[in-house]
Amino acid sequence: MKGVILAGGTGSRLHPLTRITNKHLLPIYDRPMISYAIEAMIQAGVSEMMLVTGGTHAGEFLRLLGNGQEFGVDRLFYAYQEKPGGIAEALSLAERFVGGDRSMVMLGDNVFERSLRPCVDAFARQAHGARVVLTHEADREHLRHLGVAHLNGARRIERIVEKPEDPPSEYAVTGVYFYDETVWKVLSELQPSRRGELEITDVNNWYLDHGLIEYDVIEGFWGDAGESMQAYYEVQDFVREHGVNQET
Ligand code: DAU
Repeated sequence: MKGVILAGGTGSRLHPLTRITNKHLLPIYDRPMISYAIEAMIQAGVSEMMLVTGGTHAGEFLRLLGNGQEFGVDRLFYAYQEKPGGIAEALSLAERFVGGDRSMVMLGDNVFERSLRPCVDAFARQAHGARVVLTHEADREHLRHLGVAHLNGARRIERIVEKPEDPPSEYAVTGVYFYDETVWKVLSELQPSRRGELEITDVNNWYLDHGLIEYDVIEGFWGDAGESMQAYYEVQDFVREHGVNQET
């Protein structure tokens, strides 16, 4: 399985900090934000990865990460996204790197208390399709800023709704996704959403429509440090006090 970490975008919700650097280079406690996603993948057993970034500070990632050896990365590749055309567009840049393999995709602003290893193992056992990682979130206002899974009576996902006005459940979709090799075909046929981006939720809903998606609900803290200034500081506080990527 190959890893893909997405670290492009504009980071506009953290302006003005992100006017002078890429969001994923901002500090979270004692290291740059991107370190946590790389460490999460390594800890989960995925050691060959591509980092997709863009904008004016892309060169700083090379300076920070180099060949990735300090983090335990076997082989680190880079791709440059010309314009922030959406998470799914950023992912499409990794097609040749992943080749015919499966992929674990992680948004570079996501931070987890618990190890993602059980999710990686579960996807390795899955015959085909995709897998998403959900987290329980009771705060409806927070859910309105996320992708939310609509679960039916049998606890299967019926639909994922992006930033719903009226959240259909208390289960948010985190920024960790697993795909089989079909994803490249899905990405090539995707149409831009109303905000002009290629949406990862549309990719996941394609797998849902074909009955090919499974999920995990991860326990413990989850944070999207790029969601707002408030979320950025909540993640900082959590990381400083408790640490991350823990096996239990
Ligand atoms: O964090 C979880 C949420 O992430 C999910 O619940 C949502 O379903 C999913 O759409 C996503 O929502 P966000 O509003 O947080 O997405 P955002 O635009 O902030 O992008 C998330 C990451 O993806 C960010 O760390 C950088 C990367 N990205 C984003 C865009 C738009 C790129 O690499 N390229 C891009 O063009």
